[in-house]
Amino acid sequence: MSNRVPERLLELFRPAVRSEKPYIVPGARPVSVKLNQNESPFDLPPSLKRELLEAFFQIDFNRYPSEQPTRLIQALESNCGVEPGSVLVGNGSNELTYTLGLCFVEDGDPVITPTPMFALYESMVRLHGGTPISVGCQTDLQVDTDAIIAAIEQHDSKLTILATPSNPTGLAIPKKDIERVVRASNGFVVVDEAYHEFNPEGSALDLLMRHPNVIILRTLSKAYGLAGLRLGYLVARPAVIAEMMKSRLPFMVDRMAEQVGLLLLRHQDLVRDRVDQIKVYTAHLHQAMVERGDLEVLPTDTNFILFRADRDPGELLSELADKDVLVRNMGGYEQLRGFLRVTSGTPSENKAFLDALTSILG
Ligand SMILES: Cc1ncc(COP(=O)(O)O)c(C=O)c1O
Repeated sequence: MSNRVPERLLELFRPAVRSEKPYIVPGARPVSVKLNQNESPFDLPPSLKRELLEAFFQIDFNRYPSEQPTRLIQALESNCGVEPGSVLVGNGSNELTYTLGLCFVEDGDPVITPTPMFALYESMVRLHGGTPISVGCQTDLQVDTDAIIAAIEQHDSKLTILATPSNPTGLAIPKKDIERVVRASNGFVVVDEAYHEFNPEGSALDLLMRHPNVIILRTLSKAYGLAGLRLGYLVARPAVIAEMMKSRLPFMVDRMAEQVGLLLLRHQDLVRDRVDQIKVYTAHLHQAMVERGDLEVLPTDTNFILFRADRDPGELLSELADKDVLVRNMGGYEQLRGFLRVTSGTPSENKAFLDALTSILG
């Protein structure tokens, strides 16, 4: 039996799908010091994991969860201080970006994003038939607010997507600039706050009180340390959420993820302590990288750092990986050629990274 599929069948795929590339984290290999995906270095404490095992034991695996995880939604609404009906929960925030696509993007619709920008957004726009309009940043990688506003006015776009602090740049957008973009737009402005717990500017959530066209996207993958569980959420005015619900698949959040999310929302003090620690670790790592004197190290408002050495980044990445430390090559972003990105880990992980750098670069 052959596994061959005739080209004729492959051509049945929508051109937007055929021309896309699958999302693959490059260079991933098992290492002991994993600093390539902006994850939290902290897993749940064993005592909480045991508590969860007990809760999992009570779950009927043969029964569907509720269409939308009501208890988790209520807990998030109360945590955000927003009224009931303001939150939509998804299987990670990535999954919710496809809901944005289904709701707002079709037939060449322009969607404005700054560039460089988390690559998934452009792909989401293309897959839904839209046209990504990428607006270049300033030379220091800060978002060019005037240029974003000019693009919004030129295209009268239904959707603009900002990320603050942004991945890949690591930089926060000043709140007043976000508000200028929101005011200038007749369409919706999504503010991806995956890293908001680290943001010195604070959250843009309060803009939602003043502007009906704001949509905040968040994740429990970073500061909450739940990347492996897949929980993200979106906050908007209830009438906006009610429309979005029409495009949602049911059962996207399973009962185990809901239990874990609820548990961590009850342990906000633990999350806050860990965020404080990660901020300190990141500041120390940044300082140590700058003090080496041979790296170009960019400022950061979050838990990862962009840096460039006088060395081919692919080679440096693989030499670091040979020393059991994994970082990410950012060369896929035109503006970040030559840069690598290191996530701040625990002090011992960061030391392992710094030691590996020293043994490679001297
Ligand atoms: C800006 C940004 N948004 C969203 C995500 C993905 O979050 P999730 O794990 O909730 O899908 C990431 C992950 O790296 C990110 O950097």
